[in-house]
Amino acid sequence: MLVGWMGPFHEGREWLQRDEAQRSIGIAMQTMMLAAQGMGYQSCPMIGFDIEAVAKLINLPDDHVMGPMVAIGKGTKEAWPKPGQLTLDQVTVNNGF
Ligand SMILES: Cc1cc2nc3c(=O)[nH]c(=O)nc-3n(C[C@H](O)[C@H](O)[C@H](O)COP(=O)(O)O)c2cc1C
Repeated sequence: MLVGWMGPFHEGREWLQRDEAQRSIGIAMQTMMLAAQGMGYQSCPMIGFDIEAVAKLINLPDDHVMGPMVAIGKGTKEAWPKPGQLTLDQVTVNNGF
């Protein structure tokens, strides 16, 4: 049933297709990062690279989008202290703005 719905839901809505791709990439990326951490590795997501050049290098098909790059390996030093976490109230909205 869901498969039948998904086609028409996304058809002609390129922005939604792109959003879905980035959502999936984010979930997969975080899963990889958590798995790496659980296996004793560290990771670092990055989007500050030449997206077009990397797309060309890996022959990215036209119907694919690029997500962040994730480096995974053995950390050489501890992560820097965080400059200050936002509170839960600052990052969540309950039932409306
Ligand atoms: C999606 C995403 C993309 C990022 N891209 C970059 C980047 O291009 N360059 C960079 O210095 N940090 C980037 N960061 C932040 C780093 O991954 C990292 O969190 C930051 O350098 C702080 O490192 P630390 O957690 O070891 O203190 C990105 C973070 C996320 C979540």
